[in-house]
Amino acid sequence: MERILDPAIDPAPLAGKRVAIVGYGNQGRAQALNLRDSGIDVVVGLREGSPSFARAVDDGLAAASRRVAVDGADAVFLLLPDEAMSAAYGAIEPYLRRGATLGFAHGLAIRFGLVAPRADLDVIMVAPKGPGTALRSLYLDGKGMLALFAVAQDASGGARDTALAYGRALGCGRAGMVETSFAEECEADLFNEQAVVWGAVPDLLIAGFDTLVEGGVAPEIAYMECVGELKLLAELVEARGIAGMREAISNTAELGAVLGGPKIVDESVRQRMRDILAEVRSGRFAAELEAEKADDYPLLRRARARARSLGVEAARVSIGD
Ligand SMILES: NC(=O)c1ccc[n+]([C@@H]2O[C@H](COP(=O)([O-])OP(=O)(O)OC[C@H]3O[C@@H](n4cnc5c(N)ncnc54)[C@H](OP(=O)(O)O)[C@@H]3O)[C@@H](O)[C@H]2O)c1
Repeated sequence: MERILDPAIDPAPLAGKRVAIVGYGNQGRAQALNLRDSGIDVVVGLREGSPSFARAVDDGLAAASRRVAVDGADAVFLLLPDEAMSAAYGAIEPYLRRGATLGFAHGLAIRFGLVAPRADLDVIMVAPKGPGTALRSLYLDGKGMLALFAVAQDASGGARDTALAYGRALGCGRAGMVETSFAEECEADLFNEQAVVWGAVPDLLIAGFDTLVEGGVAPEIAYMECVGELKLLAELVEARGIAGMREAISNTAELGAVLGGPKIVDESVRQRMRDILAEVRSGRFAAELEAEKADDYPLLRRARARARSLGVEAARVSIGD
């Protein structure tokens, strides 16, 4: 898979252009600041009464209502929660100039039809592979964050070049731009969030902790083993890959891993992973996300309260982690 780097990216498609960033949160702030520091004319668009208005102005950026910000802009990036995209696009569509570029940092809104862009627009995605804070700090350090990019609609014939120029202005071309589709990015991202890193792994840590505590191990020791060592694993996998990680640990740990891993991640787990991928592709999760927002996030509120009350959290506090 090709990583497209700065020397192969023409910045011209955004030269002298005006970019409106709608939303000033995790991605919005970092992207607006990186674009500004790359010489792009940026304006931040915010909803009425937004608490982020003062922050954007303090950061030295032009800020306005969403309507004023997008009016006449050459490119408009929607950088707000995915479940808010549909209403936000509805509010700005009448003010988008003909032939403008509409941009996203995640494929969900287009993949699952939350937004149906006007036919005259270019529709692109530039999805940095990490949080805005890291996107900004890497940029300031002269480095960059890997990003995926895609084109969903190419009314002008230049959408792909605009996406690359945008990624370059974010600093992502320093690390590499990797081409994908909205569907591939979205489905892989949602799958991982649910079935691997952000869904299954934390539940595995909690189950391991609970098992040791039920078996008579002190909660602090159980925490150090089952949760505390995750950072070591992540660092080794990032530096050396999964095979290299196995070679870097003791024979005792390696044999335990080889014998124990497949007992936990057996065929039934793999089948449930396939089920989750099918569910993601069916659009069921995207519908649940919108319903969750419509009801003011009842499941998320309950889950956050429950997570705070677990024994694993008390153990973390107890050892001052
Ligand atoms: N977070 C990440 O690490 C990450 C990484 C890659 C891609 N992405 C993608 O980037 C996009 C933005 O995510 P994010 O995490 O940056 O979002 P976020 O931080 O939650 O976005 C906050 C911003 O969105 C505005 N906002 C919130 N609800 C709104 C609503 N109902 N209507 C209009 N504006 C609303 C907020 O307005 P106020 O200022 O008025 O409160 C704020 O400016 C998403 O598509 C996400 O999937 C995120």
